[in-house]
Amino acid sequence: MDNQQLLDLIGKMTLEDKVAQLVQLAAPFYEGAGDEGQITGPMQAMGITDPMIANSGSILGYAGAEGAIAVQEAHMKKNPHGIPLLFMADIVHGFKTIFPVPLAIGCSWDTDLAQKSAEIAAREAAVSGIHVTFAPMVDLVRDPRWGRVMESTGEDPYLNSLFARAFVRGLQGEDLTEEVERVAACVKHFAAYGASEAGRDYNTVDLSERQLREYYLPAYKAALDEGCEMVMTSFNTIDGIPASGNEKLMRDLLRDEWNFDGVLISDWGAVKELIPHGVAEDEREAAYKAIRAGVDIEMMTACYVHELPELVRSGKVDEALVDESVLRILQLKQKLGLFDNPHRGTNPEREAEVVFSREHREAAYELATRSTVLLKNDGILPLRPEAKVALIGPFAQSGDILGPWSWSGSTEDAVKLDAALNERLGGQNVTVAVGCGIEEGTEEQLRSAVETAAQADIVVLALGEASEMSGEAGCRTDIRLPQIQLELIARIAELGKPTAAVLFNGRPLDLHGVYDKVGAVVEAWYPGSEGGAAVADILVGAVNPSARLTMSFPHSVGQVPVYYNHFNTGRPQGAADAQVRYVSQYLDAPNEALLPFGYGLSYTTFAYDELKLSSEHMTDESPLTISVNVTNIGERAGVETVQLYVRDVSGEVVRPVRELKGFVRLELAPGERGTAVFTLNEEQLRYHHADLGFKSDPGRFEVFVGRNSQDTLNDSFILN
Ligand code: GLC
Repeated sequence: MDNQQLLDLIGKMTLEDKVAQLVQLAAPFYEGAGDEGQITGPMQAMGITDPMIANSGSILGYAGAEGAIAVQEAHMKKNPHGIPLLFMADIVHGFKTIFPVPLAIGCSWDTDLAQKSAEIAAREAAVSGIHVTFAPMVDLVRDPRWGRVMESTGEDPYLNSLFARAFVRGLQGEDLTEEVERVAACVKHFAAYGASEAGRDYNTVDLSERQLREYYLPAYKAALDEGCEMVMTSFNTIDGIPASGNEKLMRDLLRDEWNFDGVLISDWGAVKELIPHGVAEDEREAAYKAIRAGVDIEMMTACYVHELPELVRSGKVDEALVDESVLRILQLKQKLGLFDNPHRGTNPEREAEVVFSREHREAAYELATRSTVLLKNDGILPLRPEAKVALIGPFAQSGDILGPWSWSGSTEDAVKLDAALNERLGGQNVTVAVGCGIEEGTEEQLRSAVETAAQADIVVLALGEASEMSGEAGCRTDIRLPQIQLELIARIAELGKPTAAVLFNGRPLDLHGVYDKVGAVVEAWYPGSEGGAAVADILVGAVNPSARLTMSFPHSVGQVPVYYNHFNTGRPQGAADAQVRYVSQYLDAPNEALLPFGYGLSYTTFAYDELKLSSEHMTDESPLTISVNVTNIGERAGVETVQLYVRDVSGEVVRPVRELKGFVRLELAPGERGTAVFTLNEEQLRYHHADLGFKSDPGRFEVFVGRNSQDTLNDSFILN
């Protein structure tokens, strides 16, 4: 169908038919879907009638090739115009083959691998009946109390933008119409959901427009510049107005300034939530505000179907707004080829062939090895081959390593750490004890674990958060490990044996009672289907860890939010001021994070020297070339992510003490010297001025090049 044919189709639809096209319902509403599918929000008595279902535009959270074919066929028979459903679901970091959570993927600093993971996720989802995924989530995050930091790639707008593009490329490919084993992407949550006050989900977001544009918007824009087909509204307010009813955000900025003409979907229930937010009296006002804001699809509430027909008939809402939304939805169906083939890439044979294939699991393994961060190592890692290892803790044999967005994955199929270590060290060298549960445990368990540890040469603790302690509505005010796990660590530490802790968790933790108690700390995040194998290969040294943090680890939750690209203040705490009271500092903790953005260790060591700038001056025609030498002075090959930061020493508004502007990955053999070369140009120095003008200022800039955002060689230049 071409556009005119779509318009003709709309012309044949009644107002009720059109309005129903704007609703998205979860799988249980549909014939043939049974009670299958993923429920990711409050189900409520919705007052949905059969004609509304027959005319609905999309189904949420259903997958499975044969079932999807049956659901689509049953639906199209009921739809008065034969319009196919869009099948949408959350494929955030894998479908059946689960990759590490995005916060882990971000730590790989490898957008090619990220793109590949998205391509594999799209293929598995598409052959299983899904047309659209609610990903990538690109919310910038600075508060580890928030459960959904695991879904983001971290605290830096530049790096988040690179990953946003990579995920969209992997999910959508080059041509969605031709490539049926890809899916349409839906960037979320627009906007600034990660800035929820106090790290509490669904909470207020109140930012200056400049902060919003400088830090929180770039990654959404990057996803759309990469061709992302859909946008999802966020639950939060922006400047006092909930996103799903926010005309300034959705019409003025998204549609008019950014020229986005794709589908805008609400998050689950977010249209009706305009009522508890306190900007709508009832469903009628909620429907009115949402359609005026340009929300095309109402997910899992029924304000549109209940109220829009009367709002249009009474003249309060121009029917053209409804037609506009229907057209965008039909255009997406057209782009996906659903009018020609309503089953698109859905294919039971392909599903059997590719889903959870060895090739896909190998890709998940590789990404997990590249996303696991070595946070501390006093030399006990890698494990000696002949060592007797006690593997202790609630994650020693746990499959709960897939993370909160793995509804279609299988924890049973996940590679557990104990099996992987047994395979690598030999069962006779590995003894396992649970030690305690995630949040509970018994004295007997603790004692038994200490006895097991006492018999071993080395202890590996497998600790962390249950996946439901992260993710949506998984917020915590105390971001330490649960008390019983801290007790286990303390008991084991008393033995004085070499001990490493592996962490399976969805947020930067407060590592009190961990970091200072063990000789090595490995941050595995939720590493996915092949997580146990990846972590085991890092523990035994088959893989040299190369991941680098993309979100700061605070000393304690009292520091939060703590992030690397902060402002300097008028009374910065400096080394010379250590004894001075009246500077910006705490009486009981340092200002800087325990582990900063960009931080991560290796089993080898890299030395930096000869930082060079091609000139002391930059103009908008003559970019700078910046280089630094890096030498692997250790005993084994390794990969170093050399990072480039700048600081605008004096701007029209205050400027961060560091801003990431580039990174280069160098793979170096023992003794090998490499050179990291960066090009820095004037465009990269632009920022939002007081009047929101986006430009650079002439003046001095400092340059920092190094292994993380703190440990760098420094120089400076003048922008003329
Ligand atoms: C949830 C999440 C959103 C997800 C949607 C559909 O509430 O906020 O990220 O895509 O519902 O499952």
